[in-house]
Amino acid sequence: MTERTSIHGQWSSRLVFILAATGSAVGLGNIWKFPYITGENGGGAFVLVYLLCIAVVGIPIMMAEVMLGRRGRQSPINTMTALAKEEGASSAWSLVGWSGVLAGFIILSYYSVIAGWALAYVFRVAGGLFNGADAAGVQAVFTGLTGDPERLIAWHTLFMLMSMAVVARGVRAGLEKAVTYLMPALFVLLFVLLGYAMSTGAFIDGLKFLFQPDFGKLFYVCETVAGTESCELSGSPVLVAMGHAFFTLSLGMGAIMVYGSYMPKGTSIARSTVLIALLDTLVALVAGMAIFPIVFANGLEPGSGPGLIFQTLPIAFGAMPGGQFFGTLFFVLLVFAAWSSAISLIEPAVAWLVENRGLTRVRASAVIGMTTWVLGLGSIFSFNIWSGDEYKLFGKTFFDLLDYLAANIMLPLGGLLIALFAGWLMKRESSVDEFAMHAWRYGLWRVLIRYVSPLAVVVVFLNAVGIF
Ligand code: PHE
Repeated sequence: MTERTSIHGQWSSRLVFILAATGSAVGLGNIWKFPYITGENGGGAFVLVYLLCIAVVGIPIMMAEVMLGRRGRQSPINTMTALAKEEGASSAWSLVGWSGVLAGFIILSYYSVIAGWALAYVFRVAGGLFNGADAAGVQAVFTGLTGDPERLIAWHTLFMLMSMAVVARGVRAGLEKAVTYLMPALFVLLFVLLGYAMSTGAFIDGLKFLFQPDFGKLFYVCETVAGTESCELSGSPVLVAMGHAFFTLSLGMGAIMVYGSYMPKGTSIARSTVLIALLDTLVALVAGMAIFPIVFANGLEPGSGPGLIFQTLPIAFGAMPGGQFFGTLFFVLLVFAAWSSAISLIEPAVAWLVENRGLTRVRASAVIGMTTWVLGLGSIFSFNIWSGDEYKLFGKTFFDLLDYLAANIMLPLGGLLIALFAGWLMKRESSVDEFAMHAWRYGLWRVLIRYVSPLAVVVVFLNAVGIF
């Protein structure tokens, strides 16, 4: 095969690839979503399933995505078309790229809304609004924000503009520096919060919740209404845990594939991938260890949903010395983490528009930004004017539905197809050539990608619809 080059350029080194991919992976998923879905799904057992999915489904599929991207050197849609042709497979494989573009749109539409909350919180914490505040006060600020569609629209707009600006300039400019300094800073601040969590007196309760598995909770979803707990049989916590493994590693939609397409040849895919997955998981676990003790110390409900971190962390910042400063910094960094993820959500679509429609990056970003912005309005209204039952489908708001569809269905499905393509359709020599790794490591990856990952995804899907 003649070596392809990408028309969009290349990362300057392996380190830059690692930083960019970590920037994509570490985001709201780790700090906002992981704690709240863990709270909703009962804790320990859910966390264990999630970790297992990262190891046997996430890492092998991530390696496959980077490998396919680097071999194809184009947007995921065109990469899949080119590789399918090269391997003598049907051009219908480009559908993997298309479904990824769609998933990226959907995810960014609500991702931007939540990142908007984080932006709003920067100013609320900096202004001292939470100094000495108790749980009720913090809650009131949160509902004040989410109940006001106009404010949410303003923050959503601002975040969208920020993301478009970076994508328009190309993923490399600006981004490299941001990730180099800001990600480590965010990590340090999570440890500051962890220190506070240890002082709350409920640290052990928090750890128990996160790490003591109660497997009954995986199959029964329990709800406490007016003091009485009722439980219902459900397969969905397992699906949510697997969906989150895809979401948090940015898999199944082409983000990692497109970043892989800018990766220099001759760098180790396996080592970079394992490192990124470990960092991502560590951030999520530390976030969980910081948040749950605060939840329990203040008598809050772990299953209180998407507002969880916005209702707990300000209590900590309001109470700890220097909290106003640390809190402001924390939300600034959270915005940066979300920013570096958001740009990877639209990069597949932008790369395709540039390749196939001859658009400039600026135009492509504008088109995509505006479309996504409109879709985001639906999620904004889910927290206020459309929050009533009459606007729900399957008991879910528009926001919940989009998140469920994208994270728990589209990403795992995309990942499954990627695994099948890389493991079964691609000739052994092709993947051996692209990975260039030790025989035993390659052998392990091949077993995982051919059998373990696809089977796991299928079993979890069947389990969720009630078979198994
Ligand atoms: N991984 C990101 C996060 O955890 C979200 C994301 C999903 C980004 C899919 C890109 C693609 O916040």
